[in-house]
Amino acid sequence: MKFYIDTSDVEEIKAALDLGIISGVTTNPSIIARSWNSFEDAVSAIDAVVNEEMEVFAEVLSTSCEDMVKEGKKIASLRKNMVVKLPMTMEAIKAIGILSQCGIKTCATICFHPVQALLASVAKANYVAPYLSRIDDIGYDGMKTVKEIHDICRRYDLRTEILCASIRSPKQMIELAKEGIEAVTLAPSFLRSLMTSPSTEQMIVKFQEDWENAVRTAVPSV
Ligand code: E4P
Repeated sequence: MKFYIDTSDVEEIKAALDLGIISGVTTNPSIIARSWNSFEDAVSAIDAVVNEEMEVFAEVLSTSCEDMVKEGKKIASLRKNMVVKLPMTMEAIKAIGILSQCGIKTCATICFHPVQALLASVAKANYVAPYLSRIDDIGYDGMKTVKEIHDICRRYDLRTEILCASIRSPKQMIELAKEGIEAVTLAPSFLRSLMTSPSTEQMIVKFQEDWENAVRTAVPSV
């Protein structure tokens, strides 16, 4: 499973990269708007801290195919290994096909239904991003949707990878891993929360206390 960090905060990105398990950085317009005034500034700051082989994802704001293609080309030119995110619409399907023919990597994002993902895969999107918990939020079964997308892509041998977004619990992570989902993008705080547990912390304290007690009570050697 590939892990991406979902932020444009450079300090958070550096901290995540230090773990040595991150394949790249994903953003969306809301994430970029929290810290930056332009996509260019955000991507340039991210580019300065990531390895040039790492993928950086940025999303178009345009809604027509023509404008999505123009904006997608501009995003792709910002650095090597950009992935252009396109919100899943009919216009996006057309734009994904065109960008793909130009050799530009794409991600069909905000996917809420397996059929959207199927169409994006046939259009040759490199990634499709289902919003797992947001599917639950509207009363459907997010995990079932992600698994259906995975089954469909495997059945037709489609090369599109699933980049699962909107993951909020360790239980969801385990289900996704058991399913063999190719990639996940995680908020920095959620990634941090996955790395430990209160029981682990308790045991660390116990080991340290036991060691210190043993050292204090040991008979000093002459
Ligand atoms: C992806 O682009 C989104 O930033 C993210 O996965 C949404 O997660 P949330 O539904 O927990 O806010």
